Amino acid sequence: MDVQSWLKILMVALLFFFFSHQTHASEETAGPFPPENLRCEYLENPTGIDVEKPRFSWMLKHSERGQKQTAYQLIVCTDPLAESADVWDSKKVASDRSLHVAFEGNPLESDRAYYWKVRYWDDQDNPSSYSQAASFDTGLFHPEDWEGEWIGVKNQLRKEFSIDGDVKRGRIHVCCLGYYELRINGQKAGNNVLDPGYTTYEKRILYSSYNVTQLLQNGDNALGVMIGKGWSSVRLLTLQLNIELEGGEKLSVFSDTTWKQTDGPIVQDSIYNGEVYDARLETPGWDNPGFDESAWETVETGIVPKGTLSAQMIPPIQVMDTIVPMKMTNPKKDVYVFDMGQNFSGWVELRVSGPRGSKVCMRHAELLYETGMINQENLRSARAEDVYILKGEGEEIYAPRFTYHGFRYMELTGFPGVPNMETIRGKVVHTAVKQIGNFSCSKPLLNRLQHIIIWSLKTNLHSIPTDCNQRDERMGWLGDAHLTAEQAMMNFDMGAFYTKFIRDIQDTQDKEGTLTDTVPHIWGQRPADPAWGTAYPLLCWYMYRYYGDEPLLKAQYEGIKDYVEFLRTKAEDNLLDFSYYGDWVAIEKTPGDLVSSFYYYYDVLILTKMAEALGYDAEIKTYLGLAEKIKMAIHKNYYDSETQSYANGTQTANLLPLYLDIVPEEQRGSVFGDLREDILYKNNTHLTTGIIGTKYLMEVLTKFNASALAYDLATQTSYPSWGYMIANGATTLWELWQHKTGPSMNSHNHPMFGSIGSWLYKSLVGIDQKEESVGFRDILIQPQMVRDLRYVTGAIHSPRGTIHCAWTRSARSISLDVTIPVNAQAEIHLPKFDWEGITLTENGNQIYDGQKFLTGLSGIRMVEEIRNKVIIKIGSGQYSFQVFGK
Ligand code: BGC
Repeated sequence: MDVQSWLKILMVALLFFFFSHQTHASEETAGPFPPENLRCEYLENPTGIDVEKPRFSWMLKHSERGQKQTAYQLIVCTDPLAESADVWDSKKVASDRSLHVAFEGNPLESDRAYYWKVRYWDDQDNPSSYSQAASFDTGLFHPEDWEGEWIGVKNQLRKEFSIDGDVKRGRIHVCCLGYYELRINGQKAGNNVLDPGYTTYEKRILYSSYNVTQLLQNGDNALGVMIGKGWSSVRLLTLQLNIELEGGEKLSVFSDTTWKQTDGPIVQDSIYNGEVYDARLETPGWDNPGFDESAWETVETGIVPKGTLSAQMIPPIQVMDTIVPMKMTNPKKDVYVFDMGQNFSGWVELRVSGPRGSKVCMRHAELLYETGMINQENLRSARAEDVYILKGEGEEIYAPRFTYHGFRYMELTGFPGVPNMETIRGKVVHTAVKQIGNFSCSKPLLNRLQHIIIWSLKTNLHSIPTDCNQRDERMGWLGDAHLTAEQAMMNFDMGAFYTKFIRDIQDTQDKEGTLTDTVPHIWGQRPADPAWGTAYPLLCWYMYRYYGDEPLLKAQYEGIKDYVEFLRTKAEDNLLDFSYYGDWVAIEKTPGDLVSSFYYYYDVLILTKMAEALGYDAEIKTYLGLAEKIKMAIHKNYYDSETQSYANGTQTANLLPLYLDIVPEEQRGSVFGDLREDILYKNNTHLTTGIIGTKYLMEVLTKFNASALAYDLATQTSYPSWGYMIANGATTLWELWQHKTGPSMNSHNHPMFGSIGSWLYKSLVGIDQKEESVGFRDILIQPQMVRDLRYVTGAIHSPRGTIHCAWTRSARSISLDVTIPVNAQAEIHLPKFDWEGITLTENGNQIYDGQKFLTGLSGIRMVEEIRNKVIIKIGSGQYSFQVFGK
């Protein structure tokens, strides 16, 4: 490095110190602190976004309780250190909005870095200092920004080029059909694996953008790309590298007929079957300049995919974790079986040395036979086998690139010598969503349940929410997607992910408004089963409720309306009678047409609520009227006054109408009574629901003051229950309540029964929001302190900031610690049990003496006793309450 470069680094370091010190200084003072956690389109400093008016969100902090934002100012500039805007200055905007504020400056340019900062004014009009600068890099907005061609079709591609000068900025945009690994001058660019994310390729193909400034060099350079098939039938690539030199000169390198290709060491690759890698076919140095490529062929061109190129605006799939095997056994001569101790998605990294040509096979499975051998029967046709052929040059390390497996056990054969625990490591691979929720409590079984929910969910996020991750399926089944969504949003930062998936759904919608069971559409039907298609309105609605994403509601409104109008054409007397799956995998079957009609009603209800939220007054009336008719039709058609229950009286048949208040008030008590009896007596405290009923069961029980019964189901250990899965060694959720291991549909990692995860937060931790609240503005803290539950602690990092709640109870007292973010408020509901009266303190100060609310403590707005509850109303801040019973 020359002196100039050193000086530059020193300057940047000094500036960094100066600015970070400055922010620190302001953080120590009282009042509004600079906004934090700046997000652009849900992402942290994204590289490559192609939204013309990106939206910004931030979180607020304040030294005082009960605070909110009354105004903000947001600036966008081309220099991270600028204090004034050269791109856009919102000026001071009187608004409490801190989520999804849209850029309104002049059009952004393609492939450019932008920086933004924000400050806010609090309740008393005190301004905070500006936040630290966050950045976003634009991708390629226009088709003509892509100068290259689509090239392929072999596995390995390369191109050399030279740069005459020091590189100031290098951005590469890579779009591929199949999966790719991008290498520059001998190094892998970025951490993405199995990239790009899956979409309906005929409609849309995603490209990823990388900051490659540090990988480029003055002089000769080489680009190398390996391509696998992924979900595509062809291997194709288009790529655009834009370079800016220190002197201001610009140059670009792109995919064209000057690129060379060869077959490379990946002899076979298939998502389901695995990868065959022959290390003898490696071509050392191929991704560095100066390689002799005379034996390589010219790439082919001419195939141009139809899909629109869109920026991949979700966290990429990455290697997220490493698992050390728990155990190695040797059930048969030369067969070794590793137990990873956890079912997950990904692969194994192998370390091996041995003679050239030795062939090591790794087969993956979720299950073992009693003999200790792996059982792959439930993978159906997926072979899940990686093969590595040694080159015979010392220690060789191999991990597959273009496949992944869902497994707990790995069988190793053909290994030269005797393997040991160091031979392999498990690599956990999934979309890199951040975990933002945590839950733990005094009941170990529920902590274990949370564990299996989290692992099932995250290892089934592979750029789409998959049904399972092991057998020959792994598809975006829409039913599974909406049933797990609330739970996912409470545990993980899902905003960008679902924004992408909702667009994927939209991409499959046809002119008639119909949707498909799977997205992208591979299996299942068009039109989708109504209980599956409902993912479109429901996911949009959850995005609005959880992230306050009103712009998304607006953008999807017409599509959802088209879908509802399609359903209307299929309805007869306001009921839908087509259904393929009904209450899927239930113990007791419920008529599918009831399930479909329930979702028809739900969809219309959501459309009405959307119209309300967006102020589409004329449509509110239309759809409210339609909703009313469907509701009455369901009741009229399915309610049996003799049995006082719906349809065939299964748990699901009764709880669906209860969930959406389809049951007229006079009959609610008896229908609920029937449901309760069915659970308690007919089924000896067991559920009989499939995936649909299970999603709403716990909430219905809680709504009807039967949280203790919900808790009994959640902690049940005999069949059918979650506890039964756990008792049988589940480390992820099963597809079926039954314990099956045979050759059919019985995956052992299927997130759909994990819908109970949202109940753990809403009812046991007690973090929920009021019905009219969006983005956790009006928080409801209402923990259910039932049975032997002694303490629960949990938090959700909501888009407004952390909401934390921890409670403990003893015979005559409750302690409750709560944190509410700035710009939100909360109502706390606590039980009084059988106590005759209560007193209440906060941080040792009495705020309720059993008769009246004692004002004076900041942030606490009201305390009152209503029937069997004590209600506390608070603003933002941290609180420590203590309730004493008499
Ligand atoms: C999938 C399910 C899906 C179902 C629809 C199965 O093959 O694995 O999770 O919802 O089909 O019937």
